[in-house]
Amino acid sequence: MTDPTPHVRASLPGKAHRLRPTGWDRWAPVYAVTERLALGRELQRAREAAADVAAAWVGSSPGPAPSRWLVLGDGDGRGLEALVRALPQATFVSVDGSRAMLARARRRLKAGPPTSTHLSPRPPITWIHADLVRNWPDLPRDAPFDGIVTSFFLDCLTPDELMHVWSEGAARLQPGGAWIVTDFLSPSEVRRAGASSGMPGTPGTPGTTGTTGTAGRWRSLRQALLLRLLYAAFRASTSMDARELPDLAAPFADAGWALESRGHSPSLLTEWRLWRRPDRSGGAGMEAPTPRVRPYSAAPDADSEASTPGHRTRDDSG
Ligand SMILES: C[S@@+](CC[C@H](N)C(=O)[O-])C[C@H]1O[C@@H](n2cnc3c(N)ncnc32)[C@H](O)[C@@H]1O
Repeated sequence: MTDPTPHVRASLPGKAHRLRPTGWDRWAPVYAVTERLALGRELQRAREAAADVAAAWVGSSPGPAPSRWLVLGDGDGRGLEALVRALPQATFVSVDGSRAMLARARRRLKAGPPTSTHLSPRPPITWIHADLVRNWPDLPRDAPFDGIVTSFFLDCLTPDELMHVWSEGAARLQPGGAWIVTDFLSPSEVRRAGASSGMPGTPGTPGTTGTTGTAGRWRSLRQALLLRLLYAAFRASTSMDARELPDLAAPFADAGWALESRGHSPSLLTEWRLWRRPDRSGGAGMEAPTPRVRPYSAAPDADSEASTPGHRTRDDSG
């Protein structure tokens, strides 16, 4: 399928790379409304939960408040908007490969032009247009960020791309820093999460919870179907190579990061995880405590964009 998006230059000083047209540009004007029609406020609640988790983590961090955040593949800015609300003292760098998405996000956040590549505290959002798979932006590799947030972005990557994006991101995160991943649960995780969240199994079937029960199987099947549809739609309309949800935990777990807390939506469609980069001593971050798990956001679909934090459940308190 030909992409009508004109080729654009990456906003990297001294580099002549051209960004591959992503196809995400044409999604930009319809992305939010399509999502809303297909999935209601499910994904937005997940983004807001991630922002609450970030704020809770900042609030519980000893010493100076972690305030420098890198947001990757944020699209039209709804995730970033929630983060800015939750972390009013923080500065953000938002990187996306779609100019149209960045323009929408910038309008939403009413900030500066989507071309700046320097880290600047004023305005607190720096926008960078770059392909994170083929051409990482010139962000210093000396760990300038306290936190990274990726919402429904890592699922766009093949396992190899995920490893690349992860290692580039990890190199820019402070030891002890947090990487909050919000995404879809895999169908197998849906089954497991169903078991641990007390989702009912098949009545009368001894020993079943959500894992082997009809409800668990149904939700897992629904998740598999939804993911198939999403991948088919995005592969047909963008340059995305990924065919299925990669194992989003693998790079973190393989590198010994601690899964500090996690939560999932009551529907088991989405989840967030807060991973901690090991600190320099290999101490706290390496201990990998048992993650705290709690379902989030039981707010009804009818609530509006202007939903208050009171509609959301803080996920990491349990
Ligand atoms: C599925 S959308 C998710 C957007 C947003 N994070 C959300 O919560 O809905 C994927 C986003 O990642 C961006 N993206 C995909 N591949 C990318 C790449 N290789 N480099 C930079 N951004 C990319 C797209 O432009 C798009 O904005």
